[in-house]
Amino acid sequence: MAAEKILSGEDNNGQKTNQSFRNEVKHMLNGFQRVGLIFAAAFLACIVLYHAAFSLQIFSGGFSFSPVKPSQYSYSSSVTLGEIRKLENVLLKASMPEKTVILTTLNEAWAAPNSVFDLFLESFRIGNETLKLLDHLVVITMDEKAYNRCMALHPHCYSLTTNDIDFSSEAGFKTPVYLKMMWRRIEFLGTIIDLGYNFIFTDTDIMWFRNPFPRFHTKADFQIACDFYRGNPSDIKSNLPNGGFTYVKSNKQTSKFYKFWYKSREKYPGLHDQDVLNKIKHDPYIRKIGLSIKFLDTAYFGGFCEPSKDMNRVCTMHANCCVGLSNKVYDLNIILGDWQNYLSVRNDTRKLLNSSPWNVPNHCK
Ligand SMILES: *[C@@H]1O[C@H](CO)[C@@H](O)[C@H](O)[C@H]1NC(C)=O
Ligand SMILES: *[C@@H]1O[C@H](CO)[C@@H](O)[C@H](O)[C@H]1NC(C)=O
Repeated sequence: MAAEKILSGEDNNGQKTNQSFRNEVKHMLNGFQRVGLIFAAAFLACIVLYHAAFSLQIFSGGFSFSPVKPSQYSYSSSVTLGEIRKLENVLLKASMPEKTVILTTLNEAWAAPNSVFDLFLESFRIGNETLKLLDHLVVITMDEKAYNRCMALHPHCYSLTTNDIDFSSEAGFKTPVYLKMMWRRIEFLGTIIDLGYNFIFTDTDIMWFRNPFPRFHTKADFQIACDFYRGNPSDIKSNLPNGGFTYVKSNKQTSKFYKFWYKSREKYPGLHDQDVLNKIKHDPYIRKIGLSIKFLDTAYFGGFCEPSKDMNRVCTMHANCCVGLSNKVYDLNIILGDWQNYLSVRNDTRKLLNSSPWNVPNHCK
């Protein structure tokens, strides 16, 4: 940048001496009009602020492997420096000591009273030792109403700018708006990785009943829940992943992987992130970057497709395999009731309950 060269006293060949540079600056300054001086000062101040913002980001410990510079920032050009700062502030407040956050995305339809978001929060309250996890939950809102509702109920809300796309209504599965929303999510999660944060991403229609951390694999970069789990956590071929629940470490492998995943949408137009993941999970590039993937057992991370069969082990239940918001809400209410029934029985009897006690899917059939 020309301004940087002026500041460092170099011309294009980098050969100018400091003395002749100073003379030149003196000469230039003498020649400036008052207005010109103010303009120049403002311009230089901007450059200084710009650099300060990046050093601040590094000092705030935002990066565990490599700082993000605008030139390396391979996601949406719409993400401004100011937004990254705002995001980092929210993450910092919500983070666990080892830089891990829980993330979910929310739009107006799901944020409405007595809809999915209320049930989601309720599950943390009635789950076993899950209440404290709410301190680490960052809600990424996709529209203004969702943001306002989030702010009324929860301390950590971040409003994601979405340019001109309206994500507020109940987006039908695989409609163009739905697809854009899903890809925006992948792009955004890639940004979180590049900011140095590990995360659990959870859909809001997943009920949390137990702390999932003890159930994660210790040596994996990317862990993902399944619609259908076939018994082997490393079986890339037959497990059917569901992108609604992932646990991702922030490292070089996952940073490259999310960029690859996001980029692959161009190769498979019309497919959503989960379908594209099923396409690219075999790609030699994954092995090349050394990404380790594990699939999570539905015994712990269940859903309507394949409910957890054991109430004594279940951590989460997802309203997957379900079309229609009102059906989802209906069955999620049943699930919360089932959990409360389970808690209310005597704990010696509880140990004997190991067949599926869920009364779902009901409306979600
Ligand atoms: C809840 O968590 C505590 C502590 O981990 C455990 O002792 C207890 O058995 C749990 N209760 C249920 C219902 O899982
Ligand atoms: C049942 O729970 C009570 C209190 O919650 C506890 O004191 C008791 O040891 C538990 N019994 C069994 C068999 O876990």
